Amino acid sequence: MYILPIVVKAFEMEITPANRIVEQIGETLVLTCNTTGCASPGFSWRIQTDNPLGGTVRNHGTYSTLTMSPVSIENAHDYLCTVFCGLEKKEKSVKVELYSFPSDPVIEISTSLVAGEQTTVICKIPDVYPSDHLEVLLKKEEHILLEKNFFEDDSTNTETKIVTYSFYPTTEDIGKEITCVAKLPIANMDFEPKERVTSQKLNANFGPKNTVITASPSNLAMEGDFLKLTCVTESNPPPQIVWRRQVADKSVQYLVENNVLSIPHAHFTDSGLYICEVINLVTNKTEKATVDIVIQGTSLHEFYLYCSVPNLQLSVGNPPPKIVLRRKSDGADVGLYSEGGILLLPSVTFLSGGDYECVAENKFGKSKSAVALNVECKIKEKLTSGVIPAATVKEGETVTMKCTSSGNPAPVISWKKKTVTGESEKIFKDATLTIKNIKSQDLGLYECEAYNQFGKEEKAVKLFVQGRVEKPDQMMPVIIAFSCVTAIAIPVVVILIYVSRKAKINGSYSLVKALRLKV
Ligand SMILES: *[C@@H]1O[C@H](CO)[C@@H](O)[C@H](O)[C@H]1NC(C)=O
Ligand SMILES: *[C@@H]1O[C@H](CO)[C@@H](O)[C@H](O)[C@H]1NC(C)=O
Repeated sequence: MYILPIVVKAFEMEITPANRIVEQIGETLVLTCNTTGCASPGFSWRIQTDNPLGGTVRNHGTYSTLTMSPVSIENAHDYLCTVFCGLEKKEKSVKVELYSFPSDPVIEISTSLVAGEQTTVICKIPDVYPSDHLEVLLKKEEHILLEKNFFEDDSTNTETKIVTYSFYPTTEDIGKEITCVAKLPIANMDFEPKERVTSQKLNANFGPKNTVITASPSNLAMEGDFLKLTCVTESNPPPQIVWRRQVADKSVQYLVENNVLSIPHAHFTDSGLYICEVINLVTNKTEKATVDIVIQGTSLHEFYLYCSVPNLQLSVGNPPPKIVLRRKSDGADVGLYSEGGILLLPSVTFLSGGDYECVAENKFGKSKSAVALNVECKIKEKLTSGVIPAATVKEGETVTMKCTSSGNPAPVISWKKKTVTGESEKIFKDATLTIKNIKSQDLGLYECEAYNQFGKEEKAVKLFVQGRVEKPDQMMPVIIAFSCVTAIAIPVVVILIYVSRKAKINGSYSLVKALRLKV
C-alpha cells in the first residue's frame, strides 16, 4: 500500500507538440493532451468544424493521446482538447498543417535513346501537396530546358506531378546530365527539404552507322606496300568489330577483331573483298562495310580488271553483286567471275585485245559497263650516234652493229639483210652483228628485229661502204634501241590497270610508264 504524497498543485493542461504542427501526409502524428494538478481528469478531443476526428484517442490517466496514422489530408484542422477536472474545465487547440514532398523527382528517359531521333524526358514529382506551390526546373547541364510551375493547381490531395520535355538528342549530348529540380517553397511552413533534385546522364545508344573502310595508301596498292585498312563506324557503346575476307571460292575467312587491319607486306594474293562487320551489342544492330583491295603484282603481264559498281550497295541484306567479265567479240564469258568486283585477266597478249563487258548483278538489278582493251606495241627509239640510220664506213674496216632492247620478257634479237630482190634474209641471230674487213658487197639495208610475246619491232640501218680505209682498226658503233610498250584505253566506270615491269632500255632510255587510267 503506497501512500501518495499530497501535492498541492494548480490544475494545468497543455498540448504537445504545441502551436502549429506541420506534418507530412502519410506519416504518424500523435497529439498529446497532458494535465498536471488533477488526479483523474476527463478528456475530450474534437475538431472545431465538427468534422469526424480522423484519429484514435487513448486516455492514460493524466494524459490523453490522439493518434493519426497515417496522417491524411482530412487531418488538416484545428484540434481542440478539453479537460474536465471536477467542475473545472480547460481547453487548448492546436493547428495541424499538412504537406507532402516525400521523395526526389524521378527522371524517365528512354533507354534506347537514339541520336537524331526525338525523345522525351519525363520528370515525375511523386505525391506533392500542396501542388500549387510546386516549381519544376529541367536542365541539361547548366542549360535550362524547361521551367514550369503549378500555381494554377487547386488540388485537394497529394498528386504526382509530371513535366515532359521533347528534344532531339545529338551524339554530343551523350554523357551530359539531365537534372530535374523540384521546389516546394512554402515560406510559413517549417519543413525540410523544400527542394529535391535528381540527375541522370544521357546515354544515347546508337549505331553502328556510317560504317566505312578506309584503305591506306589506297585500295589499289602495290606489292610490298604497307597496307592499312581502318574500319570507321559510329556506335555507342563502342562496337565489336570483325574483319573477314572473301576469297576466290567465295568462302569467307575470319581475320582479326580490331578496327585496324594491317598487312605489312602486301602481296598480290592479299587482293580480295574485305569485309568489316560491326556489331553494337546493346542495340543489337549490325552493319557491314566492304572494300575491294587490289594489290598490283610486280610480276609480269597481269591485268586486273577492276569492275567498280557504284550503284550497288554492298551491305547487309543486299547480297554482293555477282560480277561477270566477258569479251563481247566472242560472245562468251572469258571464264572470269567474281563476287567481289575484282577480276584478274592473266597473260595478256595481242590476242587479248577486244571489247570487254563487265556485268554486275544482284537481286535488285543488273548493271553493265564496257571496256576496250587495246594491246599495242610501239617502237620508241633513242640513238646514241648521229650517223643512224645511214652509216658510212670504209672498205676493210670492221663494223659492229649492236641492237639493244630490253623488255619483259627479254626480246629475241636478230639481224636481217635486205637482198637485192627486196626479201629479208636472216643473217645473224644475235644482238651484235660484226662484219670484219668490210667490202662493197656488204653495203645495203640491215634490219634489226626484236620480238617478244607482245610484239615485234624492227629498225633498219643503211650501210654505205666507201673506198679503202686508212685506219683498219677503226670501229663504228651503231646502236639502235627500242622497246615494246603496251597501251590500254579505258572508258568510264571500269578501271583497267596494267601491271608490268617497267621497260628499261639500255640505261639511257627513259622509262615508259605502262599504266594509263581514264575514269
Ligand atoms: C505530462 O507533463 C509532466 C509534467 O510536465 C511530464 O513530466 C510528463 O512526462 C508529461 N506526460 C506526457 C505523456 O507528456
Ligand atoms: C540482342 O540479341 C540477343 C540475342 O539475339 C538477345 O538476347 C538480346 O535480348 C537482344 N538485345 C536487345 C537489346 O534487343
